Amino acid sequence: MSDIQTVQVNLEDRSYPVFIGRGARHELAAQINPSVRRIAVVTQDGVPAQLIPEFADLETHTFVIGDGEIHKTLETVQTLCRSFSEAGITRSDLVLGVGGGLVTDVAGFTAAVYHRGLGVMHVATTLLGMIDAAIGGKTGVNIPEGKNLIGAYWQPQAVACDMDALLSLGERDLQCGYGEMAKYHFISRQDLSLLPLGQRIARCVQIKADIVASDERESGQRALLNYGHTLAHAVEIATNFTMPHGVAVSVGILYAAHLAQVMGRIPETRVQEHYDIVHGIYNLQTALPADFDSAAAITSMRRDKKALSSLTFVLDSKDGLQIVDGILEQDLKQAFDALRSRQG
Ligand SMILES: NC(=O)c1ccc[n+]([C@@H]2O[C@H](COP(=O)([O-])OP(=O)(O)OC[C@H]3O[C@@H](n4cnc5c(N)ncnc54)[C@H](O)[C@@H]3O)[C@@H](O)[C@H]2O)c1
Ligand SMILES: [Zn+2]
Repeated sequence: MSDIQTVQVNLEDRSYPVFIGRGARHELAAQINPSVRRIAVVTQDGVPAQLIPEFADLETHTFVIGDGEIHKTLETVQTLCRSFSEAGITRSDLVLGVGGGLVTDVAGFTAAVYHRGLGVMHVATTLLGMIDAAIGGKTGVNIPEGKNLIGAYWQPQAVACDMDALLSLGERDLQCGYGEMAKYHFISRQDLSLLPLGQRIARCVQIKADIVASDERESGQRALLNYGHTLAHAVEIATNFTMPHGVAVSVGILYAAHLAQVMGRIPETRVQEHYDIVHGIYNLQTALPADFDSAAAITSMRRDKKALSSLTFVLDSKDGLQIVDGILEQDLKQAFDALRSRQG
């Protein structure tokens, strides 16, 4: 068990460790505040029960939430709060999210609002959760107008990226993780694919931890983590969430590359490097959904919560990723044409 790696998220008095490796879930017990009496585990039916750690001497209550983005709602949060209350969970107890990004976003948000906030830890059980969703304190739920439009910043007290979880993960969910992993290649400008998986996960966690530590509330640098996400959110809404997040991100990354090229920010060779990583290394989907309506997507992107006064994108340049405001509609359309023309 000594091959557990630890990455620290440095946020002064809210700093916390992220444990990475097989069996990492067992590291959490030692992090629990002595005043905690009860653990409110939030999980899903599809998450293998053995991934829920055991805590001697603590009363553990398990709450199962629904699967899929349609359950990432305020209604689910309310149901959880009512169940917590019935089970006697108090503000000195602890919420433990055991699941993928959906579970940790919902568990985190519920922890942020129940009794005006109680402690939360996570066992991330999907690759996407490990390298992204469970770290950094962004929590929230969807509304029909957009994903994650209601939420709060609420940092966990510790996170376990337990690689035992990867053994049961389906191909589709692994691909989702690779979609987010691909984005770290462009944020860090490193070829992470040379690292063995455990070290690669730890490196992604480190990149995210450093960004979160420098810009917790997304006033600048943290927005770079949204690379590929502006279109991804629009694609998810257009497909009624049938296209998974990480796969939508992979298409979004390629769209962003084309947009950057249309705007004269990067040469064609750099667009090709995007395909080499997204498609070549991670073998991810590079096509828009068949009946995708790009005009509707442009409207949807304008509503994206990252749009400030006008449409904002994270775009590549010779100096790396940058946040770019005021994108022209004609460039957006041209980038869709370029993306489609590569889909043969
Ligand atoms: N808060 C953030 O910073 C952040 C960042 C990225 C993504 N997200 C959010 O994360 C969510 C997507 O997360 P996801 O891709 O992990 O999907 P998910 O949480 O929906 O999980 C996908 C599926 O895998 C199942 N599952 C989970 N662990 C498993 C395991 N070990 N073995 C077998 N099945 C398992 C789940 O039950 C579910 O059916 C989205 O809602 C997205 O908005 C949040
Ligand atoms: Zn994402």
